[in-house]
Amino acid sequence: MITLGEYIIKNQAEYPSASGELSSLLSSIRRAAKVVNREINRAGLVTDIIGGSAGSENIQGEAQQKLDVFANDVFKAALEARGEVCGIASEEEDYFVGFADERQSNAKYIVLMDPLDGSSNIDVNVSVGTIFSIYRRVSQPGEPVSMEDFLQPGVNQVAAGYVVYGSSTMLVYTTGNGVHGFTYDSTLGSFCLSHENIRIPEMGNIYSINEGNYIRFPEGVKQYLKFCQEKDDASNRPYTSRYIGSLVSDFHRNMLKGGIYIYPSGTNSPNGKLRLLYECNPLAFMAEQAGGKATDGFRRIMEIKPTELHQRTPYFIGSSKMVDKACALMTEFS
Ligand code: AHG
Ligand code: MN
Ligand code: MN
Ligand code: MN
Repeated sequence: MITLGEYIIKNQAEYPSASGELSSLLSSIRRAAKVVNREINRAGLVTDIIGGSAGSENIQGEAQQKLDVFANDVFKAALEARGEVCGIASEEEDYFVGFADERQSNAKYIVLMDPLDGSSNIDVNVSVGTIFSIYRRVSQPGEPVSMEDFLQPGVNQVAAGYVVYGSSTMLVYTTGNGVHGFTYDSTLGSFCLSHENIRIPEMGNIYSINEGNYIRFPEGVKQYLKFCQEKDDASNRPYTSRYIGSLVSDFHRNMLKGGIYIYPSGTNSPNGKLRLLYECNPLAFMAEQAGGKATDGFRRIMEIKPTELHQRTPYFIGSSKMVDKACALMTEFS
């Protein structure tokens, strides 16, 4: 049994040039995940801290849940505490947050995060998650962080990962050398390696989409749903529909079993609901590292040049052959 901390150090040893800052950064995330996990596991008992609405709205116009704000503050504090990060951006922060402390202003990394994904599930004991994405800054060390540091295409990510607070709590991440999963053992207080080198099957028979938005879907998505639901024994159809309402949880299941998650345009917002920078890019990096794909229906997600911090994008992610089929229909019927 190897813990996440040991694994990070072992991996760092393979990169003598590595200064250890990324390892230390990942350890900050590990520590924050334990704190958020503890409160989620007590949710029903500490509703005053993390239950229900915070009575505020984020810049997305979403009602913030107390746990959204709590998780945001815990991860922000953990990332600010050491000297590896010079600034963060978050679903729950209107604008990016530069860390002004002398130590941080020379730090080389910036982090974008969705501190609590799946907020609608919090009060009903259904799994939720945290998503993070790490880049090297492009502004000069010693300078204040700038918007350009945060508006980098996903191909520039140096690391990405998620925590899924589910029937067990797992931290899954990549630094560009495969995707590795660690399960939290609360008796040890450690994340232990449980899923080394996760590979997403190139085919699956699970599709995840909120079919309540069907009438507003693009024709290509409607055609893909028809394909999923047709009977064809040779290709194991009809597929199974599974939609948890928490992107991280649907994505994690599809990573292990194969499947596709789709949040298309044409729903309540023209570009769909999911945010490019701190939901779509980090999971796209992980999907590709595990042999899967992530597009907006036409383009590779990680090649999109961001223009706004909270910009949204249509999202197709999962098993490579399922994403290919859905995107072929998007092209055919566009
Ligand atoms: P968040 O809770 O961070 O705002 O994200 C919720 C996202 C995603 O996790 C989930 O799959 C999707 O919103 C659910 O949206 P709908 O309720 O519109 O289906
Ligand atoms: Mn939200
Ligand atoms: Mn989210
Ligand atoms: Mn969120």
